[in-house]
Amino acid sequence: MKTEIYYFSGTGNSFAVARDLAEKLNAELIPVTTVYKKQNFELTAESIGFVYPIYDFKPPKPIEQFIENIKNLNFPYIFAVCTAGLTTSSSLIYMKKLIESKDGILAGGFSILMPHNGIGCAKITDEEHQKMIASWKNQLNPICEYLINQQNGSIDSTSFMEIFLNKRNRKMLPAAFKLLFHILTKGIDSLALVAADNCISCKTCQKICSVKNIEMREGKPNWLKHCAGCFACFHWCPKNAISMGGHNMDMKQYHHPQVKLIDMMI
Ligand SMILES: Cc1cc2nc3c(=O)[nH]c(=O)nc-3n(C[C@H](O)[C@H](O)[C@H](O)COP(=O)(O)O)c2cc1C
Repeated sequence: MKTEIYYFSGTGNSFAVARDLAEKLNAELIPVTTVYKKQNFELTAESIGFVYPIYDFKPPKPIEQFIENIKNLNFPYIFAVCTAGLTTSSSLIYMKKLIESKDGILAGGFSILMPHNGIGCAKITDEEHQKMIASWKNQLNPICEYLINQQNGSIDSTSFMEIFLNKRNRKMLPAAFKLLFHILTKGIDSLALVAADNCISCKTCQKICSVKNIEMREGKPNWLKHCAGCFACFHWCPKNAISMGGHNMDMKQYHHPQVKLIDMMI
């Protein structure tokens, strides 16, 4: 059976998960950003998977846009694996409904806890990172068995309250309040991505941006209007020169330890 895995990833967590799944399932690995704009896209594989990070309880926009553009989602066996820095919440239920709106059936939806890469991520320790990364390896085989047997009906979800109940997640709250306060007092535009004076014009940010939202102007990055919100530009900058309007919002650079910059360049 031919299996294709369409993935999106900013800092490598979802890429590492997709790569492991592809190896076990003998599947083809396809960056969704190479196909998401194609109208009336026709799937040919009997089994397809979507692997992606959760952004604000939803899949990234390129994954949604790709699904909207597929013309025969009623045909394959479909699964989704999302990586979450905090909690799955109802994001896979959202995905299930999205797929159903295109006459498909989400047969399995799995959530993998991985290091957080958004606002507040500096609060998570390296030890916590290592634990999360190691525990994925225990989930890999049961998920593959489920998918090989083409099982149905398992969709992970957690309550919204888990964000507050989980000690690790609670460490994010000061950053979330700081962000909210900043937006309310200074406006969202004050948090636009910018490069500081130590930018060396290496173009890594432009090359890593899988939705091509960065143009170089006079040697400096300039962000356009279709950012997917992955923060890859921030995390992979070799000079740590990128910030949200000069504010770091309790973020520190991160990428999955077994994923290299070259793996992420599409
Ligand atoms: C803008 C943004 C929003 C995020 N929102 C959520 C969220 O709602 N829930 C969650 O569990 N993790 C959230 N995260 C964390 C990522 O989903 C998580 O770290 C993911 O593993 C990153 O995957 P990647 O390395 O493939 O980019 C968010 C991260 C970013 C950058």
